[in-house]
Amino acid sequence: MPEIPPEQEARESELVERVVASFAGTPEPRTRELVESLTRHLHAFLRETRLTEAEWREAIGFLTAVGEITDERRQEFILLSDVLGASMQTITINNEAHANATEATVFGPFFVEGSPHVGLGGDISGGAPGEPCWVEGRVSDTSGAPVAGALVEVWEADSDGRYDVQYDDDRVAARGHLHTDADGRYRFWAVTPTPYPIPDDGPVGRLLRATGRSPMRAAHLHLMVVADGCRTLVTHVFPRGDAHLDADSVFGVRDSLVVDVEHDLPGTETPDGREVVGPWSRITFDVVLALEGRPSGETQQPELGLDQ
Ligand code: BEZ
Ligand code: FE
Repeated sequence: MPEIPPEQEARESELVERVVASFAGTPEPRTRELVESLTRHLHAFLRETRLTEAEWREAIGFLTAVGEITDERRQEFILLSDVLGASMQTITINNEAHANATEATVFGPFFVEGSPHVGLGGDISGGAPGEPCWVEGRVSDTSGAPVAGALVEVWEADSDGRYDVQYDDDRVAARGHLHTDADGRYRFWAVTPTPYPIPDDGPVGRLLRATGRSPMRAAHLHLMVVADGCRTLVTHVFPRGDAHLDADSVFGVRDSLVVDVEHDLPGTETPDGREVVGPWSRITFDVVLALEGRPSGETQQPELGLDQ
């Protein structure tokens, strides 16, 4: 960093303090804490990097492009937060490890309310291209008790690397929901998760290319598990051996979520006797839910008052 003369240091610091002071009348204490801290960190970044005016203009152009491409089907700001690790950090802060509870990871942009209901052992693939994959597991709470009737929402990309909502037809595929049985068990057919790129045809993609980063996500299946008295879990299952586990573009991989996938030979008998032509795979993933009352992003917070 270049040597900054003391008078220049003083002018810069004085400006920071004036901006912080301008927020002193913020009525909501949490809002005040956030805007003051944001001011200090933002100015520290500007001063540490000695940001040039041309760089400032380029950054404003970049953020403008992020806003322009965002609509009800595409949220480029969340994607930006994802590739900066800010989404994963917020999840980490708000989902402290508790006992042996299953770890949370990013929600991603492809969950859709109102997914098809499938019975236990049903098929969520909805005709999506991909190798059939049998997924089963047990949902329990941190005391070890089975959680009966838990809602298990699952969604995933097909083997072409796309979610149903990324096609222009109105297909519903590779998503569904089911409920655990009296022993907390669940089971369903899906497609074997495969790696795919996050949407990279916008400004976030340009950022990744400019920094030599890959848009690829490690192969995964999304799960959200909801049960009375338990902290809602949003997580993924990652097949072991995937080449992108160490470089997931949104930093979503947790070692505890990486599981072995059995790749069975064609003709091997399936768990439910279903006839499968060609190869299929099998994943077992047990879920442990933290009891409600554990630290979670879902706790009631005062409104920040920024939407008026
Ligand atoms: C996904 O899991 O599909 C995803 C997550 C974050 C950003 C983009 C995609
Ligand atoms: Fe995903």
